[in-house]
Amino acid sequence: MTKTKLVLVSLMVAATMLVSATVSVAAPIVIKFSHVVAENTPKGQMANKFRDLIAERLDGKVVVEVFPNSQLFGDNKVLEAMLLGDVQLAAPSVSKFEKYTDSLQIFDLPFLFKDMAAVEKFQQGPVGQKMLMSMKKKGLIGLGYLHNGMKQLSASDPLRVPADAAGKKFRIMTSDVLAAQFEAVDALPLKKPFSEVFTLLQTRAIDGQENTWSNIYSKKFFEVQPYITESNHGVLDYLVITSTEFWMDLPDDIRTEVKKALDEAIAFGNQISEKKAIEDRQKIIDSGRSEIIELADAQRQQWVDAMKPVWKKFEDKIGKEYIDAAVASN
Ligand code: SIN
Repeated sequence: MTKTKLVLVSLMVAATMLVSATVSVAAPIVIKFSHVVAENTPKGQMANKFRDLIAERLDGKVVVEVFPNSQLFGDNKVLEAMLLGDVQLAAPSVSKFEKYTDSLQIFDLPFLFKDMAAVEKFQQGPVGQKMLMSMKKKGLIGLGYLHNGMKQLSASDPLRVPADAAGKKFRIMTSDVLAAQFEAVDALPLKKPFSEVFTLLQTRAIDGQENTWSNIYSKKFFEVQPYITESNHGVLDYLVITSTEFWMDLPDDIRTEVKKALDEAIAFGNQISEKKAIEDRQKIIDSGRSEIIELADAQRQQWVDAMKPVWKKFEDKIGKEYIDAAVASN
């Protein structure tokens, strides 16, 4: 090879290396968003909205891939996967963070919040905002709260007063507060992943569960639970979460845009959550598969009296000043 040819070949090799380096630098940042519910729920809609906003605004720079229905990870695994970098975004129920922080357990205290407006007020206040960062040292950052709604009790037999729940098995999320809530009415709580609830109910391995209208409808629990007591005894809310490492590694301008899109998607999800609760409740009534039991004031008071002592049990763990702030938001 002549000297000129050698120089030319070397230049071509260098150019090829430069092009491939440029291509790999320009590869989009992938955000995998894993969740456990159906797409026609507040969380499912929020996740899809976020994906669409990012596609519109950060096309080619960031790609969001949404995995609904526990396709990628169940809630019991997703936080570990996030810390390993296998998933970047999730929105587990606030009841599923007990391994990482005590403070979020406040949301599981029965009959604490009067309605979703009170939940929103508390979350946007100083205590709620502080709680977003309560797991930062453990590698997780809360980016916002997303609502689903108030929980109802479904069962294979009618539940009108606490004594009706005694001796019955209820599936719960992984929360000691929820376990204590069912123990307070002499029921047997079982911590099980969301993806198993339908089969557990269908096979009568359990007698009942607690959930929102949206989850009871979209996961067809109402088809295998002849009674739903409209108890509104607790709240099912989500924490949109990411890993501290992933979040801090994002370039500043991208992080700002991603957060903006996320805030808009959360606002959208929160806006539809109330509407979905009303619509899905009505669809369950229309199906004729499940009877909805409305509690008389005296009956509801019996549930309050039986379950409220759970507050005291967890007061030291959660913090009395946090509980007081929640009560003040009612
Ligand atoms: C969810 O809404 O994300 C699941 C709630 C549950 O586990 O019951």
